[in-house]
Amino acid sequence: MKKYLVIGNPIQHSLSPLIHNYWINKYNINAMYEKKKLDKQDLGDFVLKIKNKKIHGANVTVPFKQDIISYLEKLTPEAEKTRSVNTIYLDNDELTGDNTDIFGFMHAIQDIKFDVDKKHILILGAGGVVPSIIYSLIKMKAFKITLTNRTKKKAENLKSYFKDLNVINWDEIQNFDMIINATSVGLSVDDELNLNLSKIENNKFFYDLIYNPKETFFLKNAKFKGNKTENGKKMFIYQAAKAFEIWHGIKPEINDEVKKLLDL
Ligand code: ATR
Repeated sequence: MKKYLVIGNPIQHSLSPLIHNYWINKYNINAMYEKKKLDKQDLGDFVLKIKNKKIHGANVTVPFKQDIISYLEKLTPEAEKTRSVNTIYLDNDELTGDNTDIFGFMHAIQDIKFDVDKKHILILGAGGVVPSIIYSLIKMKAFKITLTNRTKKKAENLKSYFKDLNVINWDEIQNFDMIINATSVGLSVDDELNLNLSKIENNKFFYDLIYNPKETFFLKNAKFKGNKTENGKKMFIYQAAKAFEIWHGIKPEINDEVKKLLDL
């Protein structure tokens, strides 16, 4: 039986085992998928188990998506460009890191038929997932990408990866077509972003990468004002689907049952 894992810290809330085991059963694959909490110093030993085929693949989540890179032998162009790895596999016996968050975000946005072309997009936050969001938006030909972060230096640092990125101050938010919350604010139900979004006009699109809780304050407020809103659930499903395809060679079906399975 092949063994797959998601590693991170904390990891108890990860829904990856639920979705991967659902597909493993559905497609009659002789495998199991579990979650494992690791510390940073365990990463080297962990990847050795993949190299030695004791483990056959892994997802990597917060906070190791960057730290894991130094233990790998090869990166896909997407992982290289974003310096972020969420999926590991052996390719010709080489430990390979890929980034399926990009696929996840792009397909989530395409699914809801929001065309980023000609749109000015604001990203809130500058954490580990943000390079993947920027990369996806560039691939989808977004007109302009602006970023703001409470700690401005972290936002400025991202300009060395993406030269056309526009960085603004946290308290100077003007009008945008799409506003993406990529901060961790909202993970606790009563978390609220301390931001003035009053200059944003009506009928815009508010996207939150958080999917648990289903509706953060950020989305609730936006919806109340009549805007279109979407949480990060579809992105999560699509990134998992891409990892599944990489490991098992099967494009899993994303149907209502899968969506219901993850209905938090
Ligand atoms: P990771 O890289 O693991 O995704 P992170 O680096 O801690 O997580 O990033 C979390 C993001 O949420 C950061 O952009 C962080 O802003 P800072 O860089 O200023 O820390 C943002 N964030 C977390 N708590 C916040 C708060 N109370 N208000 C505004 N932004 C917050």
